[in-house]
Amino acid sequence: MILVTGATGKVGSAVVKELEALKAPYRAGLRHAGSMGMDSVAFDFDDPETFGPALTGVEKLFLLTSGGTEREAPAVDAAKAAGVRHIVKLSVWGSDREDFAFGRNHRAIEKRIEASGVPYTFLRPNGFMQNYLAQAATIKSQGAFYLPARDSKYSLIDVRDVGAVAARVLTASGHEGRAYALSGPESLSNGEIARKLSAATGNPITYVDVPDDVFRQSLVEAGVPGPYADDYIDLNHYYIAGKGAAVTADVESVTGRAPRTFDEFASDFALQFKSEELP
Ligand SMILES: NC(=O)c1ccc[n+]([C@@H]2O[C@H](COP(=O)([O-])OP(=O)(O)OC[C@H]3O[C@@H](n4cnc5c(N)ncnc54)[C@H](OP(=O)(O)O)[C@@H]3O)[C@@H](O)[C@H]2O)c1
Repeated sequence: MILVTGATGKVGSAVVKELEALKAPYRAGLRHAGSMGMDSVAFDFDDPETFGPALTGVEKLFLLTSGGTEREAPAVDAAKAAGVRHIVKLSVWGSDREDFAFGRNHRAIEKRIEASGVPYTFLRPNGFMQNYLAQAATIKSQGAFYLPARDSKYSLIDVRDVGAVAARVLTASGHEGRAYALSGPESLSNGEIARKLSAATGNPITYVDVPDDVFRQSLVEAGVPGPYADDYIDLNHYYIAGKGAAVTADVESVTGRAPRTFDEFASDFALQFKSEELP
């Protein structure tokens, strides 16, 4: 049995879809079990009492949360205690270098898993193409999106490919003790992404580079906690330094299929970016 945490989110829902296609037995560990029409069990990273029942009979754990990876640590300990035989952790691109905040946070959990003695696989994806859906409101209303990314390039990945890798790692042997750096097939700047979104929608869409302090303020005004906003700016500096630009073969080596291009993503999600008002 596989327990999938984060199953209602971007990556987790892609993992579940792939496991269903593979007819692999899984259950979703959800804060609101039974709510999403999937086989599920109560699991809350903030409520350790849910860990034991959710992990009973589980051989493999897909480990993902949002808003504070340190919350994964007690779940790692519980997985070891429950006899879980493989932890597949959703980490982040470049976590092994520990030179940006999100990377250091994820690496701390990777180290805890390594120390636990439970066999593991670390999935370290670059930025998600689906993050651009968070920019859809201004893309539709103004034909523009705003990021503090200068002209940096990064090899962003479609979460559907992250899900495909995770499902294969969870259902086959030979991935234990490995870490996969998951990228898309090309490295793109936001200017290039804007042109691809324009082509997919037929609307003129531009990228506007925003100063760090202005962007940080907009995040805080939108309700993002200050420390998380700082970490997001830190991530952009990491990209501006060119550390997100490499393209790897890991998606294809695990799934046997090349990762999706940004053009494919933009075409599949064009309706969510397309404006009826813009020319
Ligand atoms: N965005 C990127 O470009 C990127 C790139 C690389 C790595 N990552 C990493 O990916 C992870 C986020 O993945 P995502 O984008 O798929 O996240 P997401 O869409 O925000 O979904 C988060 C999931 O975590 C669940 N969750 C949150 N708090 C929980 C709790 N207390 N107990 C149980 N479940 C909880 C949510 O469940 P509910 O439905 O109950 O809220 C949801 O299923 C983070 O670790 C991030 O660092 C992100």
